[in-house]
Amino acid sequence: MKNVVILISGGGSNMVRLVESMKRSDHPGYPALVFSNDPAAGGLALADQMHVATASLDHRAYARREDFEAAMAEYLDAAEPDLICLAGFMRILTPDFTRRYAGRMLNIHPSLLPAYPGLHTHARALEAGDSHAGCTVHEVTADLDAGPILGQARVAIEPGDSPDTLAARVLKMEHQLYPLVLRRVLEGHRDRIDIA
Ligand code: GRF
Repeated sequence: MKNVVILISGGGSNMVRLVESMKRSDHPGYPALVFSNDPAAGGLALADQMHVATASLDHRAYARREDFEAAMAEYLDAAEPDLICLAGFMRILTPDFTRRYAGRMLNIHPSLLPAYPGLHTHARALEAGDSHAGCTVHEVTADLDAGPILGQARVAIEPGDSPDTLAARVLKMEHQLYPLVLRRVLEGHRDRIDIA
């Protein structure tokens, strides 16, 4: 079994799907820890209900980003992660931290990277008049939202879509894509998959 650590900041809907996917008896992953930078994150209670170990540190208690990351790393390393999945984790990580876990840290981003790195992705796609939006699972590197792509899911933009209605449809695809990519990576596959 390979230890999977999941980092969240809020509701953790992607985390829930990842944990649920690992319940299959033939799955190579084990949800070793759910960690949050916000002790009040709703996802922590959901992880508790799924009997997954949880931990959290309030990043606002640390004057320097590096100090928070050093404290977080102690929790992560104690879980001996083979893979770390950022799932709705909203803290930007320093290059040193990403280098520490190079090759074993994934993220899900709500756009068809390389389009729209950063925030407000759905509003930007609507503003641009794009025909499609979607989500991407990628390896985390020092460059924000720019690591090797492991999977993408496309979602057609519909007339009258708002950022919220589009986000809701994309989130449903995130919940399909991330578990698929997680299993493939744990089974040793890093070639990208595309689902529509
Ligand atoms: C989602 O839009 C996801 O793409 C982004 O964070 C948002 C919340 O994710 N990474 P979750 O519901 O907390 O998993």
